[in-house]
Amino acid sequence: MDLDALWKVFQELFQNKTISPEQWKQILSEYHGDDYKKYLQFDEEKYARNYVINTELFDVLILCWRPGQKTMLHGHPKDGCFVKILQWEITETLYNADKKPLRTSVMREWETMYNHDSIGYHILENASNRDTVSLHIYSPGNYKPCLL
Ligand SMILES: [Fe+2]
Repeated sequence: MDLDALWKVFQELFQNKTISPEQWKQILSEYHGDDYKKYLQFDEEKYARNYVINTELFDVLILCWRPGQKTMLHGHPKDGCFVKILQWEITETLYNADKKPLRTSVMREWETMYNHDSIGYHILENASNRDTVSLHIYSPGNYKPCLL
């Protein structure tokens, strides 16, 4: 499945709104292409957020991370956020509502994750010494990071 096919599936699914995080993981796991590479753009100052799709229903972004780049502590209200690692790895630290760290885990190439405020808030970081690329889907669209 290439990105165009993936977007078409998203479009239909977001209109029906009947899909669980487990089903999302399943769909994302079917993508193993390299056509995401046309969206690669790094920023030396901050992790780069490159829009691929921006709609009312959902946004798709390709994030490019130089070593050491990381997000602020933030949450994902409404339908949450789906992530698939396309290159290398991302470290996630999960926090509770009191901003206390709960756990840290590393997501590796081709792994998927789901985050929502009901699970916790998080910081994502490229804690490695190599460039990382990740795919992010936010619903509804026009997502603004919800900083704590
Ligand atoms: Fe996030």
